[in-house]
Amino acid sequence: MKRNAGAALRRTALLGCLAIAGGALIAAASPTGGQHGAMAMDAQQQRLDQLVTNAASAPPGVDPVAWSKIYQPPGNEPTADRIALGRKLYFDTRLSKDGTVSCGTCHDASRGFTDHRNVSEGIGDHLGRRSAPTTMNAALFQSMFWDGRASTLEEQAKLPILNPVEMGHPDAASALAAISGDPAYRDLFQKAYGRAPSYDDLGRAIASFERTLIFLEAPFDRFAAGDAKAMSPAAQRGFALFNGKARCVSCHMINASNPLGTDNLFHNIGVSARKQNFEALAQQALAALQGGSGVDAVDKMALQTDMSELGRFIVTKNRGDIGAFKTEQLRNIGITAPYMHDGSLRTLWDVMDHYNKGGETNPYLDGGIEPLNLSEDEINDVVAFLFSFTDTRFARENETALHEQQAHAARQRPFRDNALAHRRVLPFETRVIGSTGLK
Ligand code: HEC
Ligand code: HEC
Repeated sequence: MKRNAGAALRRTALLGCLAIAGGALIAAASPTGGQHGAMAMDAQQQRLDQLVTNAASAPPGVDPVAWSKIYQPPGNEPTADRIALGRKLYFDTRLSKDGTVSCGTCHDASRGFTDHRNVSEGIGDHLGRRSAPTTMNAALFQSMFWDGRASTLEEQAKLPILNPVEMGHPDAASALAAISGDPAYRDLFQKAYGRAPSYDDLGRAIASFERTLIFLEAPFDRFAAGDAKAMSPAAQRGFALFNGKARCVSCHMINASNPLGTDNLFHNIGVSARKQNFEALAQQALAALQGGSGVDAVDKMALQTDMSELGRFIVTKNRGDIGAFKTEQLRNIGITAPYMHDGSLRTLWDVMDHYNKGGETNPYLDGGIEPLNLSEDEINDVVAFLFSFTDTRFARENETALHEQQAHAARQRPFRDNALAHRRVLPFETRVIGSTGLK
């Protein structure tokens, strides 16, 4: 696949750094016991037992041939022992330096495998710069992270453990030492990989466990399979808009070989344009990366510095990738708020308001983003469709989230701009970019 297809479409526009405050932190609604409002780790595992009952075979919704040929890397074919080891590691707080945070703290089984925060909080109350995407279905992505800096789950899993603002172990040896004194682990590593514990096998095992977190059984899928009653009339109208007037499908495509609703590409849809001076940041990033641009350096830049907002650029150094982020999956989107790489959009109505007005103007805005002229009824229909994309195992959480978002949106729609959405003003007019306008 051509990874830079979006770049060709990007048009030149004027830079407008519109200052709009990000959404507030969303309070956790579930029982806690873990750090930062997460559910206690043993309770999360009980929840998981109810959610995933048949972990070994190809999950429903994924082509079994693709599952064994594409999604399982040679040398790390999933076995029950590998999955069991990975699951223990995923929920083990000893993988953080101070023993308080596990993968499950930020990718919590009781909170849509995310943390419901704008940006994640790791050890020592350190805040990162990005919102935690769900680990559900991450196995089906072509690359990991909002900027795609890791290409596999195996590679991804080894990074948060060593990132100072996430789990904070100074190096792989320290992380291994924290667990390898435990005889249960020595035994599990031996069974899973036939050798003593190593950091690479730790990454492999966690990846094997994550490959069991596949949630693709939504009302939408029953509708697509021919059950016309599986989605409400509003959601059905929303689906037509998604594929038509609202243009969502041009990046969030959904089909049998692409079940997540993503093109796996990177686009600037203007989220970070709200607060950044891209040019100065890009220069700063290029200078900083001269000292080393390996995945560890990029990981720290992405989670600890303002350069985070450059997105894909800090991985590729291509100007066309400035402010571009991965098209996130739309699976289970109802239960994974807040939205976007910075968690700045609190509800799916905010998401629709963002797209309806044509994103935020900036010189690198993707050519596929323009004012949509959607009415309020049409916005409601697309939102109804998005809520039908949640796996039925989360039907109750989805329903609760829908009502909560509906109530919030009735009070607050900070990103709505009808003049722009309905093209009464155009994005490059001075009243939009402000009198100082050009930077
Ligand atoms: C302190 C919170 C935190 C912890 C702990 C954490 N993550 Fe994450 N995770 C994040 C954030 C934030 C991102 C997005 C970062 C980015 O894109 O730059 C992320 C991204 C990911 C992704 C990529 C998903 C996608 O859509 O691209 C996966 C997979 C993942 N984490 C798995 C894990 C695993 C496995 C662990 C434990 C070894 C872990 N995470 C620990 C916060 C956390
Ligand atoms: C030009 C490509 C493109 C188009 C068109 C597009 N999106 Fe997106 N979408 C993206 C990208 C890229 C992101 C992540 C952006 C970021 O975080 O900065 C995203 C993020 C999202 C998210 C948040 C995902 C999450 O987990 O936080 C939702 C929801 C979403 N899009 C829905 C839609 C809908 C609905 C439409 C149609 C109205 C649409 N998108 C049109 C590329 C696109």
